[in-house]
Amino acid sequence: MATVLGIETSCDDTSVALVAGEPGEAPARPPRVLACGSFDQGALLAPWGGVVPEVAARNHAAKLVPLMRDVFRRAGLGPPDADAVAVTTSPGLLGPLLTGLGAAKTLSLALRVPVVPVNHVHAHVEAVHLEPPPVPYPYVGMVASGGHGLYLLVRSPSDAEVLGGTLDDAPGEALDKGGKLLGLGYPAGPEIDRLAARAPPPGPAARPFPVALADSPGPDLSFSGLKTALRERVRREGVPSGPALAALCRDYQEAVVRALGLKLGRALEAAERILGGARPPAVVGGGVARNSRLREVLARSFPGVRLVPARLCADNGAMVAGLGLRLLHRAAPFPDSLSLDARGRFP
Ligand code: KG4
Ligand code: ZN
Repeated sequence: MATVLGIETSCDDTSVALVAGEPGEAPARPPRVLACGSFDQGALLAPWGGVVPEVAARNHAAKLVPLMRDVFRRAGLGPPDADAVAVTTSPGLLGPLLTGLGAAKTLSLALRVPVVPVNHVHAHVEAVHLEPPPVPYPYVGMVASGGHGLYLLVRSPSDAEVLGGTLDDAPGEALDKGGKLLGLGYPAGPEIDRLAARAPPPGPAARPFPVALADSPGPDLSFSGLKTALRERVRREGVPSGPALAALCRDYQEAVVRALGLKLGRALEAAERILGGARPPAVVGGGVARNSRLREVLARSFPGVRLVPARLCADNGAMVAGLGLRLLHRAAPFPDSLSLDARGRFP
């Protein structure tokens, strides 16, 4: 058994968690999340209408220590009980990443334990292992968030091959920017979800938005045209209110959901070819995977698809600690791991 402290600061959520379990790639039982504490900077960043890296990094620096104190207290543990510190080192905003990495190295020095570097998008789908039943490798992971729209062929905790992804905006970004055009707050994804659920399901009355790259054979996505189509409609017709706003949110969200589902199918086909005919399981994670319509459509279209539990979809320290536990045996020992660096882009 090992206990790992996970630190997530790649974007605008500060999150810390303690996870305990059997280390290694294929534990018999899922690990236990002993405590997870997050600080969502959404309200602090709202005046800017998006993430300002320097502001986010400053908030991480202010929140990390109180959050660590809180998770140790809630878990009934102290810092010396941690066997390792896992931290997101890529991809993300460099200032925020370095803030978390600095905290991880400081703890590592104080406790003489290794730092385990974790890839953020890989961690989003590996969060599926925090709940039974186990998902075997290889699997196809879809990461849909505010920063990423990616399809991965995940062969192990340390091996994720990019099958395809967005050529421009991430799906969450498309929802957030669309919501901004409609006068909704930041981030708009949850509000669009809530309003869309009030409208009748898509039917003959819907005015669908186009799905880009529908005919391209690969799992590539594009959302910039969708955003432009909404801007044009709003320019012509103005921002509606009441039931008409709900219907507009439904139709806009539906285009994002359809694109993600369509390309998950293409990603599974691509993986099947790479793997020589075997159809791998599908796993879906990332903040947009909390979307109720996306969950409903994917569960219906892909029987057996594993949706990361909604509470583990947003950026969180538990997914980082959980993947850290799986990678622990591969991590450089203390003090070698002190030379780790952060990288903004997906390696
Ligand atoms: O994974 P995440 O917390 O952070 C990133 O790594 O980006 O994802 C945040 C994104 C935001 O764009 C937000 O609008 C979106 O997830 N989101 C949702 C919902 N909850 C969060 N989008 C649609 N429906 C939701 N219920
Ligand atoms: Zn994320």
